[in-house]
Amino acid sequence: MEKRTTATPLTLRFMASIIFFVLGHQVLSIDIHKGRHYVAAVYEHHIILNPSPAAIIDRHTALQLMKRNLDIYEEQVINAAKQGAQIIIFPEDGIQGFNFTRASIYPYLDFIPNLDCLIWNPCKEFYLFNDTEVLHRLSCMALKNQMFLVVNLGTKEPCTQSDPHCPPDGRYQFNTNVVFSDNGTLIARYRKQNLYFEYSFNTPPEIDYTIFDTPFAGKFGIFTCFDILFYEPTVTLIKQYNITQVAYPTAWMNQLPLLSAVEFQRAFATAFKINLLAANIHHPDLGMTGSGIYTPSKSFIYYDMESIDGKLIVVEIPVMTSDHEANIENNAMSYNSQKSFSDFFMEKQICHKDQETDCEIAEKPSQELPPVFYEIMMYDNFTLMPILNAEGNIEVCSNTLCCNLIYKRLEKTNELYVLGVFDDLHTVHGTYYIQACVLVKCGGLNYTTCGQEITEAAGLIDFQLQGNFSTTFIFPLLLRSGVTLDFADHLGWEKNSYVMYKTGGSSGLITAGLYGRWYERDKN
Ligand SMILES: *[C@@H]1O[C@H](CO)[C@@H](O)[C@H](O)[C@H]1NC(C)=O
Ligand SMILES: *[C@@H]1O[C@H](CO)[C@@H](O)[C@H](O)[C@H]1NC(C)=O
Ligand SMILES: *[C@@H]1O[C@H](CO)[C@@H](O)[C@H](O)[C@H]1NC(C)=O
Ligand SMILES: *[C@@H]1O[C@H](CO)[C@@H](O)[C@H](O)[C@H]1NC(C)=O
Ligand SMILES: *[C@@H]1O[C@H](CO)[C@@H](O)[C@H](O)[C@H]1NC(C)=O
Ligand SMILES: *[C@@H]1O[C@H](CO)[C@@H](O)[C@H](O)[C@H]1NC(C)=O
Ligand SMILES: *[C@@H]1O[C@H](CO)[C@@H](O)[C@H](O)[C@H]1NC(C)=O
Repeated sequence: MEKRTTATPLTLRFMASIIFFVLGHQVLSIDIHKGRHYVAAVYEHHIILNPSPAAIIDRHTALQLMKRNLDIYEEQVINAAKQGAQIIIFPEDGIQGFNFTRASIYPYLDFIPNLDCLIWNPCKEFYLFNDTEVLHRLSCMALKNQMFLVVNLGTKEPCTQSDPHCPPDGRYQFNTNVVFSDNGTLIARYRKQNLYFEYSFNTPPEIDYTIFDTPFAGKFGIFTCFDILFYEPTVTLIKQYNITQVAYPTAWMNQLPLLSAVEFQRAFATAFKINLLAANIHHPDLGMTGSGIYTPSKSFIYYDMESIDGKLIVVEIPVMTSDHEANIENNAMSYNSQKSFSDFFMEKQICHKDQETDCEIAEKPSQELPPVFYEIMMYDNFTLMPILNAEGNIEVCSNTLCCNLIYKRLEKTNELYVLGVFDDLHTVHGTYYIQACVLVKCGGLNYTTCGQEITEAAGLIDFQLQGNFSTTFIFPLLLRSGVTLDFADHLGWEKNSYVMYKTGGSSGLITAGLYGRWYERDKN
């Protein structure tokens, strides 16, 4: 029932635009330059997992197992087509699952030829190559439903010992995204760069910067899951290749308070001012849920830890063109332009030692500064300070990063919130340098509960959070009770500090954070 109500207006709008197209080219060409829209879909797939992924099986059995997931894909492509979708994204690992060994995944892998000098339509020309059954089926889905299809699968490429990178068993095995155009042609492939402990796969010998073109929305970039945290290929695609729209298959295990899937997807689209089409696996038992279609100013998400059902999200969004400035270094953003920097924060502003005398000496907090303590949050040793008063101005520092918080609790609930800072190399489950300033709710009232994963909160806090970051790559996090998203009132640089502020809010605060990535420091 719910699907119907959302489907109807989209379908109507889409049909209206077809009629428009048929009636007059002249009008349409004006339309192209005045903000086009397209209908995008992402599918959060409740995967049917192979119960024994380490077992060695034959190709025929592997194909039968994958067919169960591919049948669901086909249903969803048909559903999406009914709602006018022009492109659909499916999650990482959604066809074969995970936890394979290098040998046990082999029968699941399709072969992909080199596409540089080949135009291949696997649906129409299935006989050209062996071991391409999955590509064949996907290509036919794209063709039949006239939709661009972005899918992740396992692939193999034979190599010889003349290639110095060739693995000893004579083949590469890649975690691969493929893109089919709406006529079934295989137009792009991307091989995942930042593998997340996937011992069954190889890193590609050279970084893939994969871009594909669509007639309805121009160019898209593509990368996978863990890649979103790294410079290559992600930041290069956006900054060097001027990508402003990204198709993003993922299989993301949520980790609160800073790295829940929808929380970080939102932060990424905000930081780079891009459209992000993110499809996650649905598997609440493994902590996997959280997909969405994000524009710089809107989010359409699915997050559900209760239901076992997958979810198709279909929405019409504006095309982002590359003349749109995706400049993270200069991303002052005001989402609420009516509201200037609130008087409250002005009053509370104190003079930093490194600033000149152009700010007035505000009253020093009358009370003693609260105690600093340490707690492990997401495997990192954060320096924390509790929020003890109804309002205040506090600061914590670690290494070269100082985080300042001006706050006012609107509703004094019996909950413990803390200001935290971390400025160091993260080394568990991946190595990457983080600079973070965060305001989070703790699991209970004991300081030892800070950093625990909580999903509900009642505390409403007006705040200004800022830090003197050494990186310009800062991902703003703002998560409310029930793992719902919100936007800051303002984000941007003021002198040497990056500032976020927010007043009001519809539900309790779980996390407000400035998650900085200092990529140059990733290797010691
Ligand atoms: C995969 O392996 C991880 C780590 O060993 C484990 O936590 C997880 O439950 C496994 N998942 C499945 C679907 O077997
Ligand atoms: C596919 O495999 C069969 C059996 O191994 C072989 O005879 C045939 O030549 C192969 N076809 C192609 C296109 O490689
Ligand atoms: C199929 O789509 C591709 C990419 O959009 C296009 O380049 C190609 O010309 C199309 N092929 C046919 C036969 O329409
Ligand atoms: C990206 O945009 C910049 C600035 O407009 C331009 O100089 C550069 O050539 C573009 N790069 C690509 C790959 O289009
Ligand atoms: C966290 O850092 C503090 C300050 O350096 C140190 O005293 C404490 O032992 C660290 N905690 C852990 C668990 O490493
Ligand atoms: C941030 O501010 C602190 C305190 O003023 C200072 O010690 C530190 O060097 C600053 N960091 C940077 C990168 O400027
Ligand atoms: C806080 O938790 C720690 C560890 O669980 C415990 O030792 C301590 O007594 C608790 N403190 C209070 C005030 O409850």
